Amino acid sequence: MSIVYLNGEFLPMERAQVSVMDRGFIFGDGVYEVIPVYGGRLFRLEQHLQRLVRSLTEIRLSNPMSGDEWRCCLQEVVQRNGSGDQSVYVQITRGVAPRDHAFPQDVQPTVYVVSSPLKPLAAEWAEHGVAAVTLPDIRWQRCDIKAITLLPNILLRQQAIDQGAVEAILVRDGQVNEAAASNLFIVKAGELITPPKGPFLLPGITRDLVLELAAAHGIAHREAVITPQDLAAAEEVWLTSSTREILPVTRLDQRWVGDGRPGVLWRRMMGIYQDYKQTVRERGEMPAA
Ligand code: PDD
Repeated sequence: MSIVYLNGEFLPMERAQVSVMDRGFIFGDGVYEVIPVYGGRLFRLEQHLQRLVRSLTEIRLSNPMSGDEWRCCLQEVVQRNGSGDQSVYVQITRGVAPRDHAFPQDVQPTVYVVSSPLKPLAAEWAEHGVAAVTLPDIRWQRCDIKAITLLPNILLRQQAIDQGAVEAILVRDGQVNEAAASNLFIVKAGELITPPKGPFLLPGITRDLVLELAAAHGIAHREAVITPQDLAAAEEVWLTSSTREILPVTRLDQRWVGDGRPGVLWRRMMGIYQDYKQTVRERGEMPAA
């Protein structure tokens, strides 16, 4: 049974209880983070904390903890769950109050941290790649906020699964911005391309790391608008996220991507990414060499 953190206490998950009046439960009024842990070390922790602070600021919820308090709290959850490889989930809601859309006054936010074992990427996915489908982006105009309100993402992901795919790549106004729970990269004429940050995509920590590693290793890359036509003609398509790392998409809308196998550039980037992870595992976070 995992040990969780809830509002100042570390306790077994089965004893962690939140009021039914919590605005997270009633309204989905809160934000979250998912942070991978390798060998007991929180991966890209500072970047995740910065994004968390940004999400809190954007929903006008004051940060309940200082940077050091966050670092201590998250590290303690990791240690109490036996270190190793984990996935840490952090959720902050606007707290417990009678149901009213307006912000409640003088209410403490609810802070919850839980860790679960991080499953390694399925060997089958790395070997053969995955299937994805394109779907209209039915989400709101602030996809840059990591909000717990995920109903559109859930419906889109399930629609993809119902069609035998693992992810939905989302199209809005003639542009492809990201997927239901991952960021998007394509390879076009040998160059790695990802859409620029903006209100219609989450500024992914894995996305930023892939760009950082591409720069460090002399891989041609650029942030640019991707159209559905670019996507359909791409030599390679990748999906990035903290839990699935870099996934090669080999089937898109029932058609092969490239030659239908994970691409050459994906293989290279995956090697670089795994080396970086290994360094963090052994020595902690370092700037990309
Ligand atoms: N999702 N875009 C969306 C909509 C996401 O939900 C996620 C991550 C990403 C990738 O971001 P990052 O590289 O920082 O994980 C992009 C997490 C893993 C989740 O909701 O479980």
